Amino acid sequence: MNLLGIYGSPRKGGNTDLLLDQVMAGAAAAGADCRTVYCRRLQMSGCLACGGCDDTGECVLDDDMDQVYPLLRWARAIVMAVPIYFYAPPGQVKLLIDRAQACWNHKLLTKGRGHLGTYDSGQGYLVGVGATKGQNLFEPTDLIAKYFYDALDMSYQGGLFYRRLEDKGAVLQHQDKLQEAYELGKRIAGGK
Ligand SMILES: Cc1cc2nc3c(=O)[nH]c(=O)nc-3n(C[C@H](O)[C@H](O)[C@H](O)COP(=O)(O)O)c2cc1C
Repeated sequence: MNLLGIYGSPRKGGNTDLLLDQVMAGAAAAGADCRTVYCRRLQMSGCLACGGCDDTGECVLDDDMDQVYPLLRWARAIVMAVPIYFYAPPGQVKLLIDRAQACWNHKLLTKGRGHLGTYDSGQGYLVGVGATKGQNLFEPTDLIAKYFYDALDMSYQGGLFYRRLEDKGAVLQHQDKLQEAYELGKRIAGGK
């Protein structure tokens, strides 16, 4: 199982980092081949809506997203972990997501409009962390994840959503959540 972890927080060593570390550790222990992308390390532009990928499924821009596209293609499962910023993923993550427009066009060109409802490239998961207890805290990000994975031809499986984690490392006080993340990784690697 090829598993890609997308680290979405600008805060190194924060709650989403710690949770995704556990997911990746669980998956590795269960035999997965694991790779990572740290959005905070990427120097890249957002999608310019130039239409350059319309006929090719390839982005014409030349920046750090060039390292990410091959990993998106390589992965059979992806776990994207994000802190909630104003009810959405951080801007650094949204840049990457918007650049998946090239993947969407690739899917359209290879599968055709009649077959967009099937997902042949694997499964996508989300780990979301927020400070408040807002009932709808994860709704926008949940939808964004669904359509990000749709563009990658992956079926969205939901994931783990944790409220009331604010300070850096707060999740370390919650062994149950860390364990849950580890178990998710194991489950993904086992294809369950
Ligand atoms: C710019 C910014 C916006 C935020 N917006 C929200 C929000 O809308 N709702 C919420 O519950 N928490 C919000 N938070 C809090 C973070 O989601 C929370 O601290 C989270 O644990 C950070 O995860 P990290 O440690 O992985 O970076 C915000 C934090 C920042 C820095």
